[in-house]
Amino acid sequence: MAGTPVRVALLGCGTVGTEVVRLLTGQAADLAARVGAPVELVGVAVRRADRHRDVPAGLLTTDALGLVSRDDVDVVVEVVGGIEPTRQWLLAALRAGKSVVTANKALLAEAQGELFAAADASGADLYFEAAVAGAIPLLRPLRESLAGDRITRVMGIVNGTTNFILSAMEETGAGYQEALSEAARLGYAEADPTADVDGYDAAAKAAILASLAFHTRVTMGDVHREGISAVTPADVLAARALDRTIKLLAICERVVGEDGTESVSARVHPAMIPRSHPLAGVGGAFNAVFVEAEAAGQLMFYGQGAGGAPTASAVLGDLVAVARNRVAGGRGPRESAYADLAARPIAQASTRYHISLDVADRAGVLAAVAAVFAQHDVSIAAVRQEGRTQDASLVVVTHRAPDAALRSTVDKIAGLPFVNAVVSVMRVEGEDQ
Ligand code: NDP
Ligand code: HSE
Repeated sequence: MAGTPVRVALLGCGTVGTEVVRLLTGQAADLAARVGAPVELVGVAVRRADRHRDVPAGLLTTDALGLVSRDDVDVVVEVVGGIEPTRQWLLAALRAGKSVVTANKALLAEAQGELFAAADASGADLYFEAAVAGAIPLLRPLRESLAGDRITRVMGIVNGTTNFILSAMEETGAGYQEALSEAARLGYAEADPTADVDGYDAAAKAAILASLAFHTRVTMGDVHREGISAVTPADVLAARALDRTIKLLAICERVVGEDGTESVSARVHPAMIPRSHPLAGVGGAFNAVFVEAEAAGQLMFYGQGAGGAPTASAVLGDLVAVARNRVAGGRGPRESAYADLAARPIAQASTRYHISLDVADRAGVLAAVAAVFAQHDVSIAAVRQEGRTQDASLVVVTHRAPDAALRSTVDKIAGLPFVNAVVSVMRVEGEDQ
């Protein structure tokens, strides 16, 4: 193949990196034909070189900064993860004019502005399709295909590990820990799986999605985050009784206030959704994301959201794009943050709620609970009570209410003398009203 080779340094050779090496070397001739020049792997940085017998020893190094600084590196592919020292490596690469492909959502959600500024200064590319929703082409549609439209909402399942756990709890009755161990074994979970179960991973992805969708720099600190560790088998059963299922959702919205001012609302939390909702059927480590845009209407993106090979597919797609840009002498899209919308606090987010209470089974309890909802202007949509011996389970489903009003309602109810416990409070999404 004619053309000056595009020389690639790979940082990390774990679940994703191993598959990147396999695709890069196994499809070398096809990739060269697609790019217009050979794409050569010239170095692989890892932490423990003795664990990587499949990689030619001459390529391995434990000095990632040294590798990205080499003169014979044109493109850096980062699949290590974490914020430091990866931030320093990628800044060094970009400042030296080397394009970067990364799957690192944690870093992007923290330092996208700094990384894009370094890319702009040197004219390098920064691509990160694999950072959100694994194999699913989602960021390129937001960055490019929908660049002429006005996106109003992005909502979906963006974490494979938690979706795998919730699906297992519901379908097989598996315990939480058992399902998490299996997700880690299958290569879905982060190195520290609390990033998955506590919602950090999904929140980082929400920040990236909101940034691209609303042309605004949204960081982790702007995203409200709740994980799934508080979701119990009882919640799963309660959802089933109401013909609903529980999913960890990322929801990014453009909100227009009463005075016409726009803001961005980004949140990640578990929610009950109706079984009839398209997201309810998304099981295992699959992801699915709805995008709503004014002209395009509703779009749905679905596919494998985690795992080595699916993620490597997205990495390779980006690698081909930056290699083509190099060969053609052009650049990919830059950061688009001109709209600079304010972040809307979670207190103002409005959803429906499912509240489960353990109360004393005696006259006047239901009326007193209902009165607290009324005092806070939270309208009740449905009530279900099941008596036991002296106690009762009381479930209240509300109409849409602001988060702040709901929190105050629940705090007040928790203090009532006949309320033994607030068993769970969960948002209900995917329904009107
Ligand atoms: P792994 O933990 O499997 O692999 C991490 C790799 O980084 C290992 O090869 C490790 O080396 C190497 N590494 C760690 N520290 C250093 C260091 N200081 N210097 C050089 N190399 C180092 O992670 P994954 O492959 O699962 O994930 C990688 C990235 O991809 C993360 O950002 C993750 O969020 C993202 N991602 C992962 C997905 C998945 O499904 N797994 C999906 C989408 C994105 P060694 O092997 O020697 O320990
Ligand atoms: N840990 C992540 C997940 C990997 O489970 O979705 C994919 O980003």
